[in-house]
Amino acid sequence: MIIRTFETPDETAAAVAQRVVRALAEKPALVVGLPTGQTPIATYAELRRRHAAGEVDFARATTFNLDEFAGIPPSHPGSFRMFMERHLFQGINLAPARTHFLDGTAPDLDVECERYEAAIGAAGGIDLLLAGIGANGHIGFNEPGDTLSARTHRVALAASTRRHNAALFGGDPADVPREALSMGIGTMLKAGAIVLVATGAHKAACIERAVHGPVTTRLPASFLQLHRHVELYLDAAAASRLGPR
Ligand code: F6R
Repeated sequence: MIIRTFETPDETAAAVAQRVVRALAEKPALVVGLPTGQTPIATYAELRRRHAAGEVDFARATTFNLDEFAGIPPSHPGSFRMFMERHLFQGINLAPARTHFLDGTAPDLDVECERYEAAIGAAGGIDLLLAGIGANGHIGFNEPGDTLSARTHRVALAASTRRHNAALFGGDPADVPREALSMGIGTMLKAGAIVLVATGAHKAACIERAVHGPVTTRLPASFLQLHRHVELYLDAAAASRLGPR
């Protein structure tokens, strides 16, 4: 794993944005995997700023979001599609037809997961996958457990994940859907390059385990050790248990 550390969350976000800008300059028709959550908000703001400055063009890019809540229509303010509209898509020139999401209201969620796998394949696979990490070690919505699904699948959300996402649903964790759809670990590991971003002291322990611990379904991010090109972008707090820089 390539580990890059920065003093602050803002410096980390600027560096991640620069990584995306560089990838798009090298390959304008880039296929990108995108996370939601608190961590990428600053990166997305920086990408909007750089697009407004004429420094990055998304016209030929394609995106696939990592996950979506089950039972939540795309127009719901808590949906990840709406999150992406607010934080990124409204400020850049991505073609709406090339932004892809799992549909949590599809009549058959298992069929929907297979549709998504096929769509990723039809796009030629993901070139650059951006990911965050949950404090419990999840990536996408692949939660810790006895087993992990390799392909895109339905997932029962951990109580901590529902608490963490409560703000999207008015603040009460009880209103957060119990289920979601997520790219599988195998789907993610097929990406050409994976950029995992983590900031804050609350991520230090899971980052340490993801980098130095055993590969285990109890910490899904540990599976990134199996990929040949993973870059970790960390602020000093998230990197604090990795040893001296
Ligand atoms: C969401 C996703 C999650 C988040 C993780 C960290 O699309 O993929 O794995 O990246 O829950 O969330 P934050 O950034 O809010 O700490």
